[in-house]
Amino acid sequence: MAGTSGPAALLLAAGSGERLGVGRPKAFVELAGRPMLEWSLAALRAAGVTDIVVALPPGVPAPAGVRGVPGGAARSASVRAALAEVSADVVLVHDAARPLVTPDVFARVADALSGADCAIAAARVADTVKEADASGTVVATLDRSRLWAVQTPQAFRRDVLARALDVSEDVLARATDDAWLVERAGGSVRVVETSPANFKVTTPHDLRLAEILLRERC
Ligand code: CTP
Ligand code: MG
Repeated sequence: MAGTSGPAALLLAAGSGERLGVGRPKAFVELAGRPMLEWSLAALRAAGVTDIVVALPPGVPAPAGVRGVPGGAARSASVRAALAEVSADVVLVHDAARPLVTPDVFARVADALSGADCAIAAARVADTVKEADASGTVVATLDRSRLWAVQTPQAFRRDVLARALDVSEDVLARATDDAWLVERAGGSVRVVETSPANFKVTTPHDLRLAEILLRERC
């Protein structure tokens, strides 16, 4: 992997999981026999990443062997809080809500950083994507061959990420990923093609699917 001392990882687990609707933070929901975030921790360790900081919901203790920080109100605020705890040159940001990540993806995004400010896991879009106005009338059909569904992990040079996160709370709240913050600061972002199987567990349907796929792995 890139960097002399090896990358650090920021694992985001501070969300409340509103859309999953189980009444507690999503990352701690049991999935194929372990809390969801443990799947990402195992993949990070298998990739050789040992410097790991987890952004946590208020009052939740850090899992054994990793450092925890209280997360922020918005996802990128959680990234900022976790980033303050690491000093590595290269930082991998990963959502605990993507438990199907495989170890090779961490290495691939870190390696793709040479020549870019940021490298992001992303899957090709299989569906046709249309843009519609507020009334539901289609205004455009996008060129699918140029579209990517963005995932995590996302790899950054530490100084680039710190600068990109140095924005108002309002801008932080609008960021659905950190690469966007790098883009708006004029930085270069490269996609690394990954499998759609690295999906984000957002709804009860996603949780059922993740359970089946992770049980198959056991
Ligand atoms: N996350 C975080 N801090 C926040 C919000 C989100 O660390 N303030 C993390 C979540 O724990 C998750 C990842 O960012 O691993 C992606 O966010 P999302 O899928 O939106 O999770 P939640 O915010 O928990 O879900 P919801 O939006 O449905 O409430
Ligand atoms: Mg959210």
